[in-house]
Amino acid sequence: MATKLETWSPTSWRTRDVAQSPHWPDTSALQRVENELATKPPLVFAGEARRLTSHLADVAEGRAFLLQAGDCAESFHDSGADAIRDKLKVILQMAVALTYGSGVPVVKVGRIAGQFAKPRSQTEETIDGVTLEAFRGHIVNDEPFEEEARRPDPTRMLQAYHQSVSTLNLLRAFTKGGFADLSRVHAWNQQFVVETIEGKRFSAIADDIERALRFMKACGIDLDRESSLHEVDFYTSHEALILPYEQAFVRQDSLSGDWFDTSAHMLWIGDRTRQRDGAHVEFLRGVKNPLGLKVGPSMTPRELVELVDVLSPENEPGRLTLVCRLGHDNVARLLAPLIEAVRDAGQRVVWACDPMHGNTINAASGRKTRRFDDVLSEVEQFFGVHHQLGTWAGGLHIELTGDDVTECLGGGRGVVEGDLETNYTTMCDPRLNASQSLDLAFRVAEFLQN
Ligand code: TRP
Ligand code: MN
Repeated sequence: MATKLETWSPTSWRTRDVAQSPHWPDTSALQRVENELATKPPLVFAGEARRLTSHLADVAEGRAFLLQAGDCAESFHDSGADAIRDKLKVILQMAVALTYGSGVPVVKVGRIAGQFAKPRSQTEETIDGVTLEAFRGHIVNDEPFEEEARRPDPTRMLQAYHQSVSTLNLLRAFTKGGFADLSRVHAWNQQFVVETIEGKRFSAIADDIERALRFMKACGIDLDRESSLHEVDFYTSHEALILPYEQAFVRQDSLSGDWFDTSAHMLWIGDRTRQRDGAHVEFLRGVKNPLGLKVGPSMTPRELVELVDVLSPENEPGRLTLVCRLGHDNVARLLAPLIEAVRDAGQRVVWACDPMHGNTINAASGRKTRRFDDVLSEVEQFFGVHHQLGTWAGGLHIELTGDDVTECLGGGRGVVEGDLETNYTTMCDPRLNASQSLDLAFRVAEFLQN
């Protein structure tokens, strides 16, 4: 069934239909940017991507849990250190809550350092008789409804690369240079979170961890020498949507001869670009990075088994993560047949739950939002179905920010529709704020424990 891998090359996607492609007005300018990007240093190394695959293999086999989180879309206007640090704080808090609560190791992957492109349901937008390209994320064009801003500009890919470099540089410093040290666990609890129920619950865990560390030290264990207490492995990921950009980062690993897309450790295929014979599937099947595949409500069990076969022909655990975004009112009906088909085909994958994208609604004001209760309900049902089938609910994929935003309804601090305007700053989809994210992590830790 699988297409022969011999026919793959970094450019073989170009013979296929490219869904969601921007209408680049100047192809020679695009070509110049592609050539320039191809000369740039890689963002990540093959060995790191391989290491993530092996961590994800632990998830596939039920020995670890995947936390994949970050912005819906990163912004060129928001490239400062504080935003990155605050996002990392929330992810570290969630990871601690999950690890401490469940006793299961957590693989940490950010939607960060490259998450700039957005697929759109309408490729163009018309206002008062004027039709312009839809906003496709800062790697392609800009938000204002103006001809100049909306025209796809390939030089934005260079800016996306440079922002990814500086973001990743800071993440590497934070995660290996002391910021993620377990002795600093209190410092990740931000001011506006401390006073919430989740914040207090987190403080209590932080106290426990400090006490445990003191205890181990008193027992004569040299904590300074235990690097795992002081650092975390933190990986990057984004949707591989803009294929000219991704192709420019394909490099051949000198050790194995394998091809890697060095723009991030992990790349995923969106629900809108997962056509079996389409360009995105063709491109990603040939790179050795761990991959994600978004699974929306229109995916049939048969289609899924075929796609898994194409994307993971060697059936290596950790290679492929199925990120289900079915919606709280669909998941109970649709998830089990998908899991059974994959299981019966003997395919070894990670099952992750994206409880965000199937639960987007419009508030009366027209603002896109999500109800925290719907998010929670999808996660709970996801765990329930896996429990029933005896399979491992292996991961959580969410959109969050470290800011105190009011984009999703509900949660501990009870954001209501009237609050949405207070601090609604997302460029695209509504994100969980820090306390909602932490709340979710505590609940998931409980599901994992049971
Ligand atoms: N290195 C371990 C891990 O990643 C323990 C750890 C250190 C940790 N700092 C952390 C866990 C911050 C979560 C968050 O699991
Ligand atoms: Mn999104």
